[in-house]
Amino acid sequence: MMSAIMSISPGLPSSSQPPLSSPPPATTLPLRTIPGSYGWPLLGPISDRLDYFWFQGPETFFRKRIDKYKSTVFRTNVPPTFPFFSNVNPNVVAVLDTKSFSHLFDMELVEKKNVLVGDFMPSVKFTGDIRVCAYLDTAEPQHAKLKNFAMDILKQSSKTWVNEVLTNLDTMWDTIESTISKSGSASYVVPLQQFIFKFLTKSLVGADPSTSPEIADSGYIMLDRWLALQLLPTVKIGVLQPLEEIFLHSWAYPFLLVSGDYKKLYQFVEKEGKEVLSRGKNVYGLSLEESIHNLLFVLGFNAFGGFSVFLPSLLSALLSDTTGLQERLRKEAREKGGSTLSINSVKEMQLVESVVYETLRLNPPVPLQYGRARKDFRLSSHDSVYDIKKGELLCGFQALAMKDPKVFDDPESFIPDRFVGEKGSELLNYLYWSNGPQTGSPSESNKQCAAKDYVVLTASLIVAYLFRRYDSITGASGSITAVEKAK
Ligand code: HEM
Repeated sequence: MMSAIMSISPGLPSSSQPPLSSPPPATTLPLRTIPGSYGWPLLGPISDRLDYFWFQGPETFFRKRIDKYKSTVFRTNVPPTFPFFSNVNPNVVAVLDTKSFSHLFDMELVEKKNVLVGDFMPSVKFTGDIRVCAYLDTAEPQHAKLKNFAMDILKQSSKTWVNEVLTNLDTMWDTIESTISKSGSASYVVPLQQFIFKFLTKSLVGADPSTSPEIADSGYIMLDRWLALQLLPTVKIGVLQPLEEIFLHSWAYPFLLVSGDYKKLYQFVEKEGKEVLSRGKNVYGLSLEESIHNLLFVLGFNAFGGFSVFLPSLLSALLSDTTGLQERLRKEAREKGGSTLSINSVKEMQLVESVVYETLRLNPPVPLQYGRARKDFRLSSHDSVYDIKKGELLCGFQALAMKDPKVFDDPESFIPDRFVGEKGSELLNYLYWSNGPQTGSPSESNKQCAAKDYVVLTASLIVAYLFRRYDSITGASGSITAVEKAK
C-alpha cells in the first residue's frame, strides 16, 4: 500500500446540503492507491458481470471485494457489458461506507449527467426523446426548472395526498380481505400495485384513472412493462441461469415494444392532467411535451417504481417479525395521533417512523447511485484517502453503505427502534436512501429525491392505518394468509 500521511477534510455533503449536525472532525488519514483492477479488456468486465448477476449476486459481489482488498473503496466493473453494450464503460470506483458514499451528494465534486443507472443510459425514446429531470446534472439550467416543477407537483398534491392514500388503502385491504375469505390467502402484489398507481395518479396528475377503463385496468401493468424494458440490463431478476444472462442482460430491448402503452399513458395525462400541465407551462416555462414526459417519468419511474420496490419490503418486514413488533405498533398507532390519521398525527408515532427508516436502511429501494468526478479530488473513507481523477465514475451500493459498522450498531439486524430518540435522530444524518442524508433537503442545486419526506410520510401512514384497522396480520413474503380485525 502506498502511504503518505496527509490532512484532509471529510467527504461529507458540502454546499448543496445542509451541514450534518455533528460532522466528523477533519482527520489525518493515510493516502492509499485505489485497490482492485478492471482486468483484461472484455474478459474483466464479463467475469465481473457473471459474478454480479449469477455467481454472487450484487451484495456478495461488493462484499467479497471489500474483504479481498481490505477497503470499502476499490476499482471494479459493473454491468451491463459486452457483447451489445459496446458504448458502455463498465469501469467504476466503488464507494461502500457512509463516508466515501457521501461524496456522491457533493455537487461540486460529482456530475450527475446521464448517470441515473450508471454509464448505461436507456434510450431517450422511452421519454419522448427528452432527457428528463433525473438524467440532468445540476449545472444544466433545465434541471432547476424541472426539479422545481417536480417539487411544485408534490406541493399541489399535498392537499389531497393523505386522503388519497387512506381511501385507496380502504379499497386495497377490502380486496385482500375478500380474497382471503374466498381462497384462504391473498397475494398482495397486484392489490398493492393498483393502490400505488391509483393514489399516485390522483395526487400527482390530479386525474382519476377510472375516467379511462383501459388505464384503470392496466395502467400499472403498462408502467411495469415500460420500467422493465429500461432497467432489465442492470437488474438481477432471478430467472434460471444462463437464460437470464443470455436473454435479459445481453442487450437493451427497444422502446417499440411498449410504445403503444406509452402513447396511451401520454394521452391520458394530456387529457386529464390539464391543471398540472398548465403550471408546467405558465410557472416553469416548459413546453407541453416536456411537462408531459417529465410528469410521466416522475409518476411512472420515480414514484410508482420507487414505491413498488419499497412497499413490499415494508410489508415483509412486518410479516416476518417474531419479536412482538406488530403489538407495539398497534399500541402506538392507536394511542397516538388523534382520531383521524394525518400528516401531523403520524409524526407523533416515533416507532412507526423508525420502522419505516429501518426498512429503508436495510432495503434501499434504489440500491445504486452514481456520480462522475467533475475534477481531480481526494476522497476519504473512514480509514484512508484516495485520489480520484476527473471523469472517473463513482458507484455507491447503498445496501452495504447502510450497513456500515462504524455508524450502525449491529448493522445486519432489523432493529425497529434504531431511529427513535436523540441517538436515532443523529443516525438520520447517515440514512441515504433518497440520494442524500435524511436530514438534507431536496433542492434545485442537488439531486436528492424530490419526494424524500412524502415517501416517509406515506409509508408511516400505511403502517399506522394497518394497525388501526387490524390487531394483527399474518403471511409470508408476497401474500397475506390472515388478518385479525381491530377489536
Ligand atoms: C419509495 C419511493 C421513492 C424512492 C425510493 C425514491 C428514490 C429516489 C432516489 C434514490 C433518487 C436519486 C436518483 C439518483 O440521482 O441517483 C430520486 C430522485 C428523484 N425522485 Fe424519488 N424516490 C421515490 C419516490 C418519489 C416520488 C413519489 C417522487 C414524486 C415527485 C419522486 C421524485 C423524484 C425526482 C424528481 C428525482 C430527481 C431529482 C433530481 O434530478 O434532482 N420520487 N428518488
